[in-house]
Amino acid sequence: MIKIRIPATSANLGAGFDALGLALSYYNYVELEESDTLKIKSADSVEIPTDESNLVYISARDLFEVCGKKLSGLKITQTNSIPMARGLGSSSACIVAGLVGANTLLGNPLTTDDLVNLSAQIEGHPDNTAPALLGGIVTAVFDGRQVHWVKQEVFTKLKFVAVIPDFELKTEKARACLPKEISHKDAVYNLSRAALFSASLLTGKFENLRTAVHDKLHQPYRMELIPNCREVFDIAYNHGAYGAYISGAGPTVMAIVDESNVYFSGKMQFSLENAGLGGWKVKELSIDNSGTALV
Ligand code: HSE
Repeated sequence: MIKIRIPATSANLGAGFDALGLALSYYNYVELEESDTLKIKSADSVEIPTDESNLVYISARDLFEVCGKKLSGLKITQTNSIPMARGLGSSSACIVAGLVGANTLLGNPLTTDDLVNLSAQIEGHPDNTAPALLGGIVTAVFDGRQVHWVKQEVFTKLKFVAVIPDFELKTEKARACLPKEISHKDAVYNLSRAALFSASLLTGKFENLRTAVHDKLHQPYRMELIPNCREVFDIAYNHGAYGAYISGAGPTVMAIVDESNVYFSGKMQFSLENAGLGGWKVKELSIDNSGTALV
């Protein structure tokens, strides 16, 4: 039996739509064992598919297929701490767990690059899957076949404070609301900010982050699908966040905060409740530089 730990991820980081993502100290665990039949169970109260539609199983089966093997069955036990459909990479965590688990069971025939490519092919974009696998902040370009990526470890005095609402937003719906085309000016607006984000995060020029997280590709459209999103941004900035953005496809809002701002999370939760937004819960996280690991 093997046990895998997979981090949550925050994708886009504002302007880096489908290109930037980072891993966070919030984990799912998956235990895997070869078996003649498929047996899937949840180790906690989270409901998961227990049939062939289970994403851990599908991904493991895909990897076996790529390696020319047939997966006869699998015993899967999932502990899902990362909330689903909240923009924190829960589906990528399942994909990565299935791939890393299956690769381990087969004696690691596939390389890290293979796993990055395969996970992006299954998910459709690399900005959650790549950091979930690799950890740190990952810059990735998926050309449809292959992912060209750089992982950078991040050692900062920053906390990533996830403000997670009590409602879901499916990525499919959050992608369907996006415009098919944007202007040249808006493209420049985004690419300059995406580049500014990583450069500022990695060099400690945190005062740039408030400008860097703005974008014209997805957040203005997704905000309409996330009730009270603007208020949550305002509260985060009032309490001194360097930047706040919609994490992945949303609905979680991520605030980037200096470690010295020790009472940020308490103030944030108190203000949310005072504003009648007690359904939003604050969770303080840090960057995970390790990525997926066998434990
Ligand atoms: N880049 C993706 C999106 C992340 O924003 O739709 C969510 O899976």
